[in-house]
Amino acid sequence: MTDPAGVTALVLAAGLGRRMHSTLPKVLHRVGGRAMVERVLQAARGAGVRDAVVVVGSGAAAVEAQLRGADLAPLRLAFALQAEQQGTGHAALQGLALAAGRTVLILPGDVPLLEAAELAALLEAHQAARAGITLLTAQLAEPTGYGRILRDSDGRIAAIVEERDASAEQRRIGEVFTLAGCFRRDLLAATLAECRTGNAQGEIYLTDTIALARARGERVEARAATRAADVLGVNDRRALAQAEAALRARTLDRLLEAGVTVEDAATTFVDEAAQIAADTTLRPMTVIEGPCVIGPRCELGPGAHVRASRVDADCRIWHSVVEESALAAGCLVGPFAHLRRGTSLGRGVEVGNFAEVKNAALGDGTKQHHHSYVGDAELGAGVNVGAGAITVNFDGRAKHRTVVGDGAFLGCNANLVAPVRIGRGAFVAAGSTITRPVPEDALGIGRAPQEVREGWAARRRRAQEAGGPGQAPEGPAPGGR
Ligand code: UD1
Ligand code: CA
Repeated sequence: MTDPAGVTALVLAAGLGRRMHSTLPKVLHRVGGRAMVERVLQAARGAGVRDAVVVVGSGAAAVEAQLRGADLAPLRLAFALQAEQQGTGHAALQGLALAAGRTVLILPGDVPLLEAAELAALLEAHQAARAGITLLTAQLAEPTGYGRILRDSDGRIAAIVEERDASAEQRRIGEVFTLAGCFRRDLLAATLAECRTGNAQGEIYLTDTIALARARGERVEARAATRAADVLGVNDRRALAQAEAALRARTLDRLLEAGVTVEDAATTFVDEAAQIAADTTLRPMTVIEGPCVIGPRCELGPGAHVRASRVDADCRIWHSVVEESALAAGCLVGPFAHLRRGTSLGRGVEVGNFAEVKNAALGDGTKQHHHSYVGDAELGAGVNVGAGAITVNFDGRAKHRTVVGDGAFLGCNANLVAPVRIGRGAFVAAGSTITRPVPEDALGIGRAPQEVREGWAARRRRAQEAGGPGQAPEGPAPGGR
């Protein structure tokens, strides 16, 4: 294992990325829900790097704010400003003063698929060879646009030539520079100081340091990337979409490898941070966002959207949205249920059709079906929430809690006006509006007594047929017209 101490990552992220046609700085465009530059830093962290300098320019404040708010600990971040984008070498110069390590790991900010293992291998190769510079390279069938690696007659790296400065013959070279590389700090500083702008773009090229290092008799090595597609920069929306698709395929492949069944890869979206146990099946149109933990033998989908939630074994979720919730084993959710933030379901709970739960705990075996709402509540085990029953948790100003004991029965269309308590084993009659506590094993009933008027409907019909106003002789129908 490489000793990553003494390595500072220097991330070049000052460019505007004109080909994105965006007001957002290129490196803030997201792949797999995370800004590209954040991904690059996560890869560096994963390779053991602890210090990073990010060179910012276009949208500097936005890039810095995004990264300061990102989950990158224990990486220590510093920012260097490149006010004018005068080239990659110029950018590296701006950051160099803040890079304290003996080794500088230069990284582009726009390579979202770069993996920690790739960087760890690069650092290791650099140290093992005791090289002055070790470049991360890729072999491409279609190298247009990239800097080409020029080798001398001994096969050693002599220089890098940019597309716009290359001869027709050089443009046929398929070995390209990825803009990632390890540099001995003193060598980088010395060679950057010698770089000039005499090239097609009038810029200071980082790539000119290679020939300058060779002129000093230093060793320049290269490591070919394990998968070329993972180390290529994103320059336009087409490449952004391809990166997104590649990342998704990588995540799904890892799940397949781990024993998860994916019925339709084309419509299944899983966050790379999600953990899904073996023998769980992802049915079509399933989206798993954020750091979810899903247990074994679950069936998610069709149409499951689960975000930042824990789902234990043997649960089934279909045509439903589950957010920031925790489900114990054997729950059944859906179709058309919405579990909102702070929902916790005990074992074997059933929620749906058309049920909503928010900031509420439902005990083992509790059932909540048919157009019901439970919010800011604690329901015990074995509670039955009838069709249309709701907690009236909001009084227009504040939210209040409802507590329901084990085995209580909430009849259809019950309104539980919070704060209120329903005791264990209590029974709330259908259609009741409950404003006072219902003690254990009691009946709570709060509705108008029913009236029956014999023959009323027939008399009304006759009156209508006679061309009258459609009312029965004794006045309007109790329920209105
Ligand atoms: C660069 C390399 C090229 C390599 C390619 C890989 C040079 C001269 N060329 O070319 O050899 O094959 O990357 O993608 O190094 N940036 C700054 N400040 C600047 C210019 C660029 O911070 O003044 C940053 C950009 O934000 C971006 C990265 O450097 O993250 C690459 O810049 P880009 O303009 O895309 O370089 P290429 O022309 O693609
Ligand atoms: Ca580029």
